[in-house]
Amino acid sequence: MSVNSVNEIEVIPTGAALGAELRGLDLTQDIPVETAETLKRLWAEHMVLLIRGQPLEKTRLLEVADMLGGRQETASRAMLVKGGIKAGSARISDVAGVSLISNLGDDGKPRKITEGSGSLEIKWHTDNSYSQNPPMGSILNAITVPVDGGGHTSFCNMVLAYETLPDDLKRAVEGKHMRHDNTHNTVGKVRAIFKEPTCREDIEGPVHPLVRVHPVTGKRALYLSRRHGWPSSYIVESGDAESEALQDRLWAHIDQERFTWTHDTWQSGDVLMWDNQSVLHRRSEIDHSQARLLQRTLVKAERFISAWEPTQAP
Ligand SMILES: [Fe+2]
Repeated sequence: MSVNSVNEIEVIPTGAALGAELRGLDLTQDIPVETAETLKRLWAEHMVLLIRGQPLEKTRLLEVADMLGGRQETASRAMLVKGGIKAGSARISDVAGVSLISNLGDDGKPRKITEGSGSLEIKWHTDNSYSQNPPMGSILNAITVPVDGGGHTSFCNMVLAYETLPDDLKRAVEGKHMRHDNTHNTVGKVRAIFKEPTCREDIEGPVHPLVRVHPVTGKRALYLSRRHGWPSSYIVESGDAESEALQDRLWAHIDQERFTWTHDTWQSGDVLMWDNQSVLHRRSEIDHSQARLLQRTLVKAERFISAWEPTQAP
């Protein structure tokens, strides 16, 4: 049997609301087209895939992204460079298209606080939702991870979250859109290129529908922006108070264990890939005495389908 034959793939669902581990793959080796197509199908179905034992070079990580739909450069790279951060530092990889997710300072030592997310908790979000064309997926590959030191990655099934909304809440989101806050960074700091916002007009970022349609499964999913303290992301069609109240209710609904799965056994070489079209993710705080370094690339979206524009639905 050849390497990466589709017949060798073993699928082990997590048993939770989303996620599966795949075995029988070696992403360092060529992937036949048939296997790539199967991977895409499994990704849409399970939303999050874990593949262990994949020590990937940065260039290979990009090739894997190409195989799954095409690489996409993170929107924050240009903003970081504009803000004075050098490529090839602990923050920005020397390879465009590959981001470093780490708690290392410029001296290579772990820290609680860095210019980036450091060892802090990262709240629920989908990657680059603050950009006009958010990526379809994200692929995270672990290089160094703490042992029993936090940094767990949780996922929330936003298809299930949408389908289980109480009727009045489902009606309340119908036809609405959200401004996705790009003024703040991952951990809530105002980006160097923006001023401190004082009202909704100061919040920079694109407007996306509150509900989107998955291009493969055709299912509806809630699509929310990361929310920081006011002023931050808001619902375009609602006044400030109504927008805050609706977001409070939506976040309270989402925060249920029955929608989630957590990868809490990170190992070096793990590949964890998630579908930004149907999940939120977050990261728990890290023991800042331990180093954590991962590399991430993004997969571009084929198209963004709003649930409010039925002519575009599959
Ligand atoms: Fe993220």
